[in-house]
Amino acid sequence: MSLAGKRVLIIGATQGIGRALAELVAADGAELIVASRNAGRVTQVAQEFGARALVIDLTDTASITAGMKAAGKLDHLAIPGSDIVFGSFRDLSLTDAMASMASKFWGPYQAVRAADMAARGSVVLFSGNASRKPIGAAALTAINSAVEGLGRALALELAPVRVNTICPGLVDTEMWERLPGSQRAEMMEQARKRLPARHVATARDIAELTLSVMTNRYITGTTVDIDGGALVGG
Ligand SMILES: NC(=O)c1ccc[n+]([C@@H]2O[C@H](COP(=O)([O-])OP(=O)(O)OC[C@H]3O[C@@H](n4cnc5c(N)ncnc54)[C@H](OP(=O)(O)O)[C@@H]3O)[C@@H](O)[C@H]2O)c1
Repeated sequence: MSLAGKRVLIIGATQGIGRALAELVAADGAELIVASRNAGRVTQVAQEFGARALVIDLTDTASITAGMKAAGKLDHLAIPGSDIVFGSFRDLSLTDAMASMASKFWGPYQAVRAADMAARGSVVLFSGNASRKPIGAAALTAINSAVEGLGRALALELAPVRVNTICPGLVDTEMWERLPGSQRAEMMEQARKRLPARHVATARDIAELTLSVMTNRYITGTTVDIDGGALVGG
């Protein structure tokens, strides 16, 4: 199924997986709307891909409501946007844990609830394989599990709108700019050696799968793993 003429909203499209997805969706001929919480960055990405820009902050209910109304009827909605604070159960403050849940779970929850979806449309959520392979960050495991549960439940409750969750393992995106340069490079290299695929995903790798899930008429209610084999070892 081509996206030509279909209206697609991507929330969290200014970098990483969302930006790579925006590029593919625009190239497929969709009527693309890109959104993030940062007006300057989202306007720049919109200009680059011939899209419409919207400011939507996934941690702000009024912003979500206004943004989804401005977006209008949607054929597809993808929400890779989130702002996660990493930390172990003991070290992560409750404030940071709850803020992470707000941006990655409650934000998408509200956005989907406010969306006016076409009957044959689709929603794509994003979790992360810490859901099933804990990595010493209990809140992250809980948040990703919650997102996957929401995706399965919505596939039933919103049918025939299709709802799926993409579950990436490690992806080399700007998200990791929070680590000092040498530490980021070292982490990626160690993962590359360890993973069965002997490769760490680029944003484009994840975006290609997302496009396929978005357009395939027979996929709904699933969590799709894309992790270089991390769940089977490595
Ligand atoms: N990268 C990985 O290794 C990895 C692994 C597993 C799962 N994931 C998940 O996959 C998804 C995409 O990851 P990524 O690496 O592409 O992330 P990223 O590079 O950090 O990009 C996040 C995007 O979300 C937007 N954003 C952040 N907070 C927002 C908010 N409150 N409202 C609206 N937009 C917001 C950012 O834009 P602005 O700053 O312009 O608002 C940015 O465009 C995330 O859910 C992430 O947790 C990533």
